[in-house]
Amino acid sequence: MPPAVSARARSMVRMTMADMAELADRRPGAFRLENADSDLAPPAHAVKATTEAVGRDRYNSYLPLHGLPELREAIANRYRDDLGLRYDPDGEIVVTAGIGEAMLDVLLSYVNDGDRVLMTNPTYNGMAQRVRLAGGTQVFTNQTEADGWHLDRADLRRAARGCKVIFYGSPAMPTGVIFRRDETEWLAEAAVENDALVLFNGAVDKLVFDGKEVVNPGTLPGMRERTILTGSVTKNYNMIGWRIGWASGPRELMKPVHDVHIFNGIMASGYSEAGAAAALAGPQGYVTESNRTYKRRRDALITELEKVPGFRIVPPDGGYFFIANISALGVSAGDFCRRLLDEEDVAITPMNAWGADDFGDHHVRFIFTNEPEARLVQAAERIARFVKRNYGAK
Ligand SMILES: Cc1ncc(COP(=O)(O)O)c(C=O)c1O
Repeated sequence: MPPAVSARARSMVRMTMADMAELADRRPGAFRLENADSDLAPPAHAVKATTEAVGRDRYNSYLPLHGLPELREAIANRYRDDLGLRYDPDGEIVVTAGIGEAMLDVLLSYVNDGDRVLMTNPTYNGMAQRVRLAGGTQVFTNQTEADGWHLDRADLRRAARGCKVIFYGSPAMPTGVIFRRDETEWLAEAAVENDALVLFNGAVDKLVFDGKEVVNPGTLPGMRERTILTGSVTKNYNMIGWRIGWASGPRELMKPVHDVHIFNGIMASGYSEAGAAAALAGPQGYVTESNRTYKRRRDALITELEKVPGFRIVPPDGGYFFIANISALGVSAGDFCRRLLDEEDVAITPMNAWGADDFGDHHVRFIFTNEPEARLVQAAERIARFVKRNYGAK
C-alpha cells in the first residue's frame, strides 16, 4: 500500500492550465494561449547581467539568504521612485524564488489552521490553492461580471468578517481588472475593521493599458503598516525562467517571513538575482514598450473573439490574460477547451476552481502575450469556426 496522501495535498484542486499545457505540448505548432508565458525577449541588460554572473563565485553562494544587496536595493528604489513607498533593503525585503514562494512564505508566516483568508472570486488558482497549503480557510468576495468584474462593497464587507488575511492582486488574475481607488479603499477598510493583514500580489502591476493605474494598497493612509507586498520580475519584465520574486513590508511583519523563506526556498538563484537587479535598476522604457505590444495583441484578439456568437468578454485593464463567459454555448469549459485543442490546435484554459471550487465551469481564459498578433488572429478565426461547427445551433 502506498502511503496515504496528506490531507493538505488532497485539499488542493489540480491546476487546469497544467493539464491543457501537457496536452498542447504533444501538438507541435499548436496555438499556445493557455499558459501565462511570453514570447518577448527579456531586457537585454538583464540577460547580459545574468550571463556575466555565471561562473563568478559571488553568485554561486547561498549568501545572503534573503537576496543580493543590489537586488534588494533595486526593489526598494522601484517602490520609492514609482510609488513613493519606502522599504529598507535591510530587513524589509526578502528575495524569493518567484512570487509563488513569496506568497506561500507570507501565508505560512501568518495563517494558522482554519484561519480565514479573503480572496476575490475569481482569483489566481495559485493563490487559492496556496491558502489551502498553508492550512487556511478560503473565503471569497465575488467580482461582479456584469459590472466589469469589479467588487461589491457590501459583499466584501460581509465576506471579510473574521478574516486574518486579505489576499488579492491588481490587475487581478484571471480577469485582468484593475481595482479602482474606491475599491482599494474598501479592501483597506475591511482590513482595518478585521485587523487583517493585506497580502498584495503585484505580479503584473506594471502591465497596464489605456492609461489605467494600479492603486497599491501600501500607499493608502495607514496601510503600509498592515500590508505585505509581493512582486516579481516574471511578468513585468518577461523574465519567467529567472524565478525571482520578493516580499516587502514593515520590519516587524517581515521578521517571520525571513525565517520561513530560509526553510522553504532557502535562497533564490544568484545568477538570476543579478539579472533581476539589472532589470529593476536599468531603463524602464522596456516596460512601456512591452505594454504597447501587449495592448495591440489584446485588442487584436478581443476584436476577433467579440465576433464569436455566445462569447461574453470583459476586456482586461492589464496583465497577460482575460476570460470569456461561454455559458450561452451550453458546454462545460473543460469539454470546450479539450475539444478545441483536438479539432483546431488552439490551447486555452478552463477556469474551474480559479477562485472558489465552483467557479469556472462556464469561463475560459486567454493569454495574449505568448503569440504574435497574426497568430492570435488566426487562433480566434479557428475558434470562430469551431464554435459555428459545434455549437452553432444553440
Ligand atoms: C497573478 C499571478 N501571480 C503569480 C504568478 C506566478 O509568479 P512567479 O512565476 O513569479 O512565481 C502568476 C503566474 O502566472 C500570476 O499570474
